[in-house]
Amino acid sequence: MKSTALTRNVSPLLAECELTHLNRSPIDIAKAAEQHQAYEKALETMGYTILRLPDLPDHPDGVFVEDTAFVLPEIAIIARPGAESRRAETDSMASVLEAYRVLHPITSPGTLDGGDVLVLGKTIYIGSSGRTNHHAIQQVAEITRPIGYKVVAVPVTGCLHLKTAVSAIEEDLILMNPEWIDPAIFEGCRSIPVHPSEPFGANVMRKNNTALTPISFPGTAEVLQKLGYDLLTVDQSELAKAEAGLTCCSVIVPHLS
Ligand code: GLY
Repeated sequence: MKSTALTRNVSPLLAECELTHLNRSPIDIAKAAEQHQAYEKALETMGYTILRLPDLPDHPDGVFVEDTAFVLPEIAIIARPGAESRRAETDSMASVLEAYRVLHPITSPGTLDGGDVLVLGKTIYIGSSGRTNHHAIQQVAEITRPIGYKVVAVPVTGCLHLKTAVSAIEEDLILMNPEWIDPAIFEGCRSIPVHPSEPFGANVMRKNNTALTPISFPGTAEVLQKLGYDLLTVDQSELAKAEAGLTCCSVIVPHLS
């Protein structure tokens, strides 16, 4: 299936990003931009077509487009990020996404970051986190119930977003850090733990037989390789200082054929 990956360039103000669980450390902006371009190239290698959203130079976290929306085959939900500094990032996402899907925005008092949303088949797991509240979870449930989805709220502690702790490898197979999220929540799903020394290793991307993993988590990558996936690795060291994972930097839009 053809898919577009929506991305955005790194802001020159990235070093002023929101931080929740990490201490601020200096970020090399030029290196972050280079790493982001390498990430886009890797996505192209995996078969995605890159479509860049308009630059938002005044928005430090603008490169983390995942938090502004999530896309289902039927519709797309426009998020309302939990950090007030990030709310204006959604407009340009909506203006591009409306060409692909009917849009449903999260409205006040709901707050939702796309990084808290993990879709496995017809179940939408949503992290109840510092960024995503129960109003938004309820709104997603109401919007998606008529098209056959079930929403499951997942308590998130110890990390920023649900997808910091868990990502989908297949519709019934997840990679996760069981220290942060209880695997029993994902009923009927097999789960693989991250390498014990790599708590942040769970955020990976998979398309066809290729798994995209950060170079900093070789132990977890090896687990995926042993399962038969071909590995593609990228260095995300600078963006990781801004509390990012691989999925944060794109929104995947599968084409409906
Ligand atoms: N720096 C990523 C975020 O906190 O939203």
